[in-house]
Amino acid sequence: MALQLGDVAPDFTAPTTEGEISFHSWLGDSWGILFSHPKDFTPVCTTELGEVARLKPEFDKRNTKVIGLSVDSVEDHKRWADDIADTQGHALNFPLIGDPQRKVAKLYDMIHPNASDTLTVRSVFIIGPDKKIKLIITYPASVGRNFAEILRALDALQLTAQYPVSTPVNWKEGDEVIVSPALSDEEAKEKFPKGFRTLRPYLRLTPQPNK
Ligand code: BEZ
Repeated sequence: MALQLGDVAPDFTAPTTEGEISFHSWLGDSWGILFSHPKDFTPVCTTELGEVARLKPEFDKRNTKVIGLSVDSVEDHKRWADDIADTQGHALNFPLIGDPQRKVAKLYDMIHPNASDTLTVRSVFIIGPDKKIKLIITYPASVGRNFAEILRALDALQLTAQYPVSTPVNWKEGDEVIVSPALSDEEAKEKFPKGFRTLRPYLRLTPQPNK
C-alpha cells in the first residue's frame, strides 16, 4: 500500500554525494524533507536543485534537513553538481541520494508506472522529528515545484505541531491562525492570551501565538 500521512517514513541506507547514510540516524531529532528528481542532467531538476541550495539557510533555521534523490549514480550526481553550480549560481549544499537500483524510489512509491516505468515523479515527503510523514506532495516530471510553498507548508506544520491551531487558506508566517474547534472558549482564552475573534463558533481566529 502507498505511504500515507502518519506512517513512519521507511528507513534505508543509501549512497549519497556526502557519503553513505542511514536515513533515520541521519535525520536525528530534526525535521526532514526527502524529495525526488526524475533524472540527472535534466533541465527542470537542475533549476529545482539550485533553488533548494539557495534556500538551504531557511531550512536550517527551521531545524530541517533536506535530501534529494535521483535514480542515477552518485558519480553522475557529482558531475551534474558542476552544471547546477554553473547555471543556477548555487552549489549543492545537501546530500543527493544515488539510487540506480530504485531501492529508495520503490520504498517511497516514487515510481508511478503510468507516468514512467523508470523515472521517479517529483515527490516531496516532509517528515517530523518523530519520523512520521507529515506531508506528501506529488508533481509530474514536467512541472517544477515551488519550494517557497514547501517552506510555507513546513512553517504551518511546525506551528500546528506546537499549538492547538490550524492555518487558513493561503496562510503565511505572521497571519492569524484558526483556534482548534476542540477548545472551548474558556480554554481558548487561557491558551491564547492575545484573544481571538469569533466569526462562527467553529471559526475563531487568533494572532499567530509564537509571534
Ligand atoms: C526535467 O527535469 O526537465 C525532466 C526530467 C525528466 C523528464 C522530463 C523533464
